[in-house]
Amino acid sequence: MKHDLVINGGTLASSSETFKADIGIKNGRIVTLGEDLKGEDVIDASGKLVLPGGIETHCHIAQESAMSIMTADDYETGSISAAFGGNSCFVPFAAQRKGQSLRDTLNVYDARAKTKSVIDYSYHLILTDVNKKVLNDLPEVFDFGITSFKVFMTYATRINDSQFLDILTIAREHGGLTMVHAENHDMLTWMANRLTDSGYLDPKYHAPSRPALAEEEAINRAISLAKLANAPLMIVHVSTPGGAESVRKARFQGAYVFGETCPQYLFLTREDLNRPGLEGAKYICSPPLRDSVTQEVLWKHISNGTFSVVSSDHAPYRFDETGKFSSGTNSDFRKIANGMPGIEMRLPLMFSEGVKKGRISLNHFVALSSTNAARLYGMFPKKGTLAIGANADIAIWDPDETRHVSEMHDATDYNPFEGREINGWPVTVLSKGRKVVDQGKLIAKPGDGKFVKRGRCDLTGLSGSRLIETDPDTNFGAELFK
Ligand code: URP
Ligand code: ZN
Ligand code: ZN
Repeated sequence: MKHDLVINGGTLASSSETFKADIGIKNGRIVTLGEDLKGEDVIDASGKLVLPGGIETHCHIAQESAMSIMTADDYETGSISAAFGGNSCFVPFAAQRKGQSLRDTLNVYDARAKTKSVIDYSYHLILTDVNKKVLNDLPEVFDFGITSFKVFMTYATRINDSQFLDILTIAREHGGLTMVHAENHDMLTWMANRLTDSGYLDPKYHAPSRPALAEEEAINRAISLAKLANAPLMIVHVSTPGGAESVRKARFQGAYVFGETCPQYLFLTREDLNRPGLEGAKYICSPPLRDSVTQEVLWKHISNGTFSVVSSDHAPYRFDETGKFSSGTNSDFRKIANGMPGIEMRLPLMFSEGVKKGRISLNHFVALSSTNAARLYGMFPKKGTLAIGANADIAIWDPDETRHVSEMHDATDYNPFEGREINGWPVTVLSKGRKVVDQGKLIAKPGDGKFVKRGRCDLTGLSGSRLIETDPDTNFGAELFK
């Protein structure tokens, strides 16, 4: 067969196997895995690793935060930064505003993304205003290929438990996945008020204002709600040993519960919030950074399979009055924008500290960074694998390249992971067979990335949690769920 492009001589890794082969690409898809393949264009990948392109499924792009602050990145800069970090696809959020219809929310984000992204994209729909009409409209969203929703248990955008149950139930009926930011809002407010009433206003007090218990309580509650609805739930940015333990236990029981953690909880600590002056503001994110003991426990939960994905939670705000200090430089920690950049650092950090240091296998790295996301968010087997027929979404890594990264390609003005030595780097990224970045250069143009219509969440291997009270066989015949 005549190929448009051949990747020769590389070592391929999927989420389960590592082997040497050439890849033949035609019309944007992988059509041949073999030896001595020929193509019109050839990439020599000798000495390199050829992996499915990363899929970033937790990032905030061209989105107003819960405090109404617009992210520094739009779909152009955000997707470029993602691509330089080894990603060929990303799924940012489309956030519903109070009073806004779901259709209108998606239209707004379509306009923000359409002509800008250099890699393929979709959105998770953030639901903040949940009423009868919105719940009625929700099934229609699946027809557009949006099959994941995010809800908050804190911030002004939070929903109550009853609304949460309604969303879980509709998502489950249509094969969708609900994601949750789990922190107990009243515990946070109570702690923050006690701190500020006593004059503790500096950025570093962001950490004690959001105790681990607040996350643990909310995660346990969210899991209970998911069990009651017998619906799939992704707990995003788990930052505590207790939270991870709850995810682990629920998964052991067979519940449709999944967990995500992020590099900031593995590589940074609350001590970073105590940097001089206002520097600590760069490290304000929620849940907050914890400590080095937590880091080790979270790594164990990565190695042993508690977490299905490691995502960046890229929430980019500049270290100035357009971002972090939108409410001024004199305001207390509560008014500083929450979140930090890192979409470009996620995969290099995880490769360097995970694969190179022997904490996870190369195949597990592929699973955590691409394959599991593709399965859970309805893109498998088109994306997340190097199988024949899949999109040629590929990242070629030089496992021996060492970098000390400072500047990234996003629109912020700092890198929270600056100065770290990183071993291994993605040198070429392809999206549907076209080069997005190659040897440090951007090749793709804004608009080359296309919207991905997604399918159902893959629940393989989990039995769910049918409760006595919701099972018609043991509930006097009452049918509560379709
Ligand atoms: O602090 C963070 N993580 N900001 C982004 C929004 C969120 O909660 O994920
Ligand atoms: Zn969140
Ligand atoms: Zn987030």
